[in-house]
Order: sequence, then C-alpha cells, then structure tokens
Amino acid sequence: MLKVINVVGARPNFMKVAPIVAAMNKRPNDFLPLVLHTGQHYDASMSDSFFTDLDLPKPDIHLGVGSGSHAGQTAAIMERFEPVVLKEQPDWVLVVGDVNSTIACSLVCVKLGIKVAHVEAGLRSRDRTMPEEINRLLTDQIADLLFTPSADADQNLLAEGISRERIRFVGNIMIDSLFTNLNRAGDSKIKSQLGLTERPYAVLTLHRPSNVDNRETFERILSALETIAAQLPIVFPVHPRTRKTIAQFGLNDRIASSTKLRLIEPLGYLDFLNLYSGARFVLTDSGGIQEETTALGIPCLTLRENTERPITVEMGTNVVVGTDTQRIVSAAAVILNDAGPKEARQPPLWDGHTADRILDVLNDSSRSPKIL
Ligand code: UD1
Repeated sequence: MLKVINVVGARPNFMKVAPIVAAMNKRPNDFLPLVLHTGQHYDASMSDSFFTDLDLPKPDIHLGVGSGSHAGQTAAIMERFEPVVLKEQPDWVLVVGDVNSTIACSLVCVKLGIKVAHVEAGLRSRDRTMPEEINRLLTDQIADLLFTPSADADQNLLAEGISRERIRFVGNIMIDSLFTNLNRAGDSKIKSQLGLTERPYAVLTLHRPSNVDNRETFERILSALETIAAQLPIVFPVHPRTRKTIAQFGLNDRIASSTKLRLIEPLGYLDFLNLYSGARFVLTDSGGIQEETTALGIPCLTLRENTERPITVEMGTNVVVGTDTQRIVSAAAVILNDAGPKEARQPPLWDGHTADRILDVLNDSSRSPKIL
C-alpha cells in the first residue's frame, strides 16, 4: 500500500488532483491518499467551490498559508509542510502544475529524501519572467518521477539532461476532469442567469501579472475587448488579482461603460465549463484553458506572447495572439467571419484515462524501486 500526499494550493491544481485522488480511492488495497491544501488560494470562489464541484475530498491537512510575496509564500509553505512530511512519512508526494505550492513542496521533499512525482511536467514557455516557468524548471530538476502531458514535454526534459527513466508520458490530467464533468456541467444555470441562452458570446479570463499588473499592456487588451464587445457580449469572470488592479489603475468607470463587457465574480468549475463550452470563442491568458478549449474544439485566443502548451496550437484550436490591440481584434474577426468551428484534433492520450496511467506507474515503481 502506497501512502501518497496529494498537494493542492491554487485554483488550477484542484481539477488536476481530483481525478488522481478519485482513482486512488477506487484502489484501496494499493493506495492511501491524503489531500493537503497549502492555502495558497483561500477565497470560497477560488478554492472551496472546486472541492464541491469536483467531488474532491476535503483536505486532510490544511497549511493555511494565504497570500504573500513569492518568497514569503514559498517559504511559508515550506516551513509548514516540512513537519507534516516528517510526521506522515509518505511513500510519495504528488505535486501538480506550476504554482508556488508545487515548487515549495517539492523542495521540502527532496531535502528529506521523500519521493516526489510531478504531474504536468516538462511544459516550457521559455519565458523566465513568468513565475510559473521558474517553478516548472526547478520542480522538474528535483522531482523523482515526471508525468508529462504531451511529447513536446518529454523532449524539453531530455534536452535539459533529465534521464529518460524519470519521464513517463501519461497524457493530460485536466482532460480526465473535463470528460468526467462535462455532463454534470450541463445542469448549470449560468447561461440563463446571464441571459445568454440564445445569443453568441465570448468568454474572457485574464490574470497573468504580465498582463494585469502592467497598465499599458492592460489598456491595450482593454481597447481590443471594447472593439470586440461591439459585436458580441464578452463574459469576464474576474480573478481577484485583476479586480485589484482594475481599481488601482482607475479603470472601473471605463470598464463599466462598455456594457457588453460583462464582469462577473470568479465561477466554480462546473459553471465555468458550462459557460466556455457554449462560447463562440474564448480569450485567455490561462494555461489550462488553452488545453480545455482544444479538447472541446472551442476557438481560443491566447493573450500572451508565448505558450508552454504548443500542442494546443499545432493540433488544437489555440492561436497565440499576444497583447497588441489590432492583432487581437483581427484574430477575433477571423473567428467571427468563419462559418464553422476550427478543425481540431485531440492530442494523443488526452483521453480521460491519465489518472489510471499515473497510478499504474506509481504502483510499478514501488515494486521495482531501482527504476528510479
Ligand atoms: C496563482 C499562480 C498562477 C495561477 C493562478 C490561478 C503562482 C506563482 N501563481 O496566481 O500560476 O495561474 O494562481 O489563479 O503560484 N487572492 C485572493 N483570494 C484568493 C487568492 C488570491 O483575493 O483566494 C488575491 C490576493 O490578493 C493575492 C492575489 O490575488 O495577492 C494573487 O494571488 P496569488 O496566489 O499570489 O497569485 P495568482 O495571480 O492567483
């Protein structure tokens, strides 16, 4: 029996850990899963609602770290995580994605000789100004097992000198949650609540510091949104970071005057899935949404200069448009003038069975530990 601490911290972690914990709970002879929440995200709309929507068991351990500077937050997680690991002595700690909780918990484990598995390993934007890129690079250097979502991730890891034995291509864990919950999301009333059942609309998410903490960039994007909103409503569930900077930059009145740019509170997993799966297209600077729109064949415009998920461009619906006003408007016009949805292919192993493949590898590795 393998005792596994499954770490969650921030919003994009919950939908990656939920299918893994569910799969472990179906194999009680092989796995004893614990859920540990660092508390990096703490608002009900950024955390609690995801536990409910995704049937993720309430955390067994909550570190309650909250917000802070990168150093402060990372250090607080490490300090509070270390005694837990020492007490629990897990066989594995499983971390996902690229948030501060991911690197903080990995670093604690490697110093204690506790094995770490990183799910969603190997993605690279090659933009080291992104905090997530640093978290990805460092976590992959120190984790024992690297579970990759796509073949490009394997190539990135090999190019960084990581040995092939540590890398396992298992597919995209987010898609497990997506396929599991697609039907349930159909019950969401969010579209009727927003009066959008009959009309085409777009969905926007925006929270990267490079976009929302920089006034000039934010205003360039906003100008594009104002132009696009003249053609169809844009629904914008606003991240707390973005809500703060809108106020700081004095942009509340400007945004309120664009009646078709509709700001709403952050949505839970099922409401958001229901909303974007019915959208004409999505504008985003999120990583995960690039993948979810690819899996569902919804056109996606990524408001960044790069992506760590190139497969969504090569095989899927994603177009990386950057933050230039005219480029965003033109890319939206291409979608709006297009008769049908973009032809999208499902990347290999984005099939809803990634969690089982991860568990099989963990199980095998405990039988033949010398592999690692
Ligand atoms: C974090 C992740 C990012 C991920 C994003 C998803 C890192 C480095 N960044 O960024 O990769 O895409 O989560 O949301 O780990 N806040 C609240 N309530 C909350 C959480 C945050 O009000 O529940 C506010 C706080 O003022 C905080 C700010 O939002 O200072 C930013 O939160 P933080 O966790 O620092 O970074 P995110 O931008 O959310």
